[in-house]
Amino acid sequence: MSFVGKGVPVPLYYQIKTRLREAIEAGELRPGDRVPSERELTQRFQVSRMTARQALTELEAEGYLQRIQGKGTFVALPKVEQPLASLTSFTEEMRRLGMQPGAQVRSVREVAAGRMVGALLGIPETEPVVRLERLRLADGQPMALEVSHIPSRLVPGLVNRDLSAVSLYEVLERVYHIRLVRASQSLEAVAAGAQEAEVLQVREGAPLLLLERVARDETGQAVEYVRSLYRGDRYRFVADLVRPRLTGGDGTSQP
Ligand code: GLP
Repeated sequence: MSFVGKGVPVPLYYQIKTRLREAIEAGELRPGDRVPSERELTQRFQVSRMTARQALTELEAEGYLQRIQGKGTFVALPKVEQPLASLTSFTEEMRRLGMQPGAQVRSVREVAAGRMVGALLGIPETEPVVRLERLRLADGQPMALEVSHIPSRLVPGLVNRDLSAVSLYEVLERVYHIRLVRASQSLEAVAAGAQEAEVLQVREGAPLLLLERVARDETGQAVEYVRSLYRGDRYRFVADLVRPRLTGGDGTSQP
């Protein structure tokens, strides 16, 4: 990278930021490459530390860079692209992308459904559910933190199974003959709390995508309610959209 001139009326931090961004876009800097540190940028461009920091901070906020505590700043890895509107499992998605799926079971136990989970699963709040908390990994890297709830009566013995090396959806199908055929799912942005940040290896306050899903079998019975926190820096959800057919003279769409 060459010297950034001080005579140009574009803010210095912005010039450095642009240089780095262009180097990333041109492939001169590749995903996972270390980028110059604040100190190195300070020396190379003869700017203040604050100026160098601002360039790196903005590139990180825009998803170009990733800072890893104690290690340095790196070009961000490409995001995993996941369809928003198909009822697939984590295992299927990772395999489709050529990555090795994995899970760390953080806890698995039986609890009373409680009011909210009971209502979502359509069962009494006193009914037992299996609460399964897993950190999902792709090629060993943390991707998402998922807490699933499944009515215990549908999955006898599930709490005693080793769920670290298997797909939950595969177990539901093979062992319990439960085939999930549809689900409702929502997606919203949240910031990582201290504990989630530690588990997912992001900084506190980092953007996460919260997906909530209620999945049902052929009979319409709700089988799983799950809250998944996906790393915002690793995921992009995509959907194909179809324009609703406009009927009626007033331009309103009809279902
Ligand atoms: C995705 C969904 C979860 C579901 C999981 C099952 O991650 N967001 O709702 O529980 O897939 O994945 P697997 O079958 O790999 O355990």
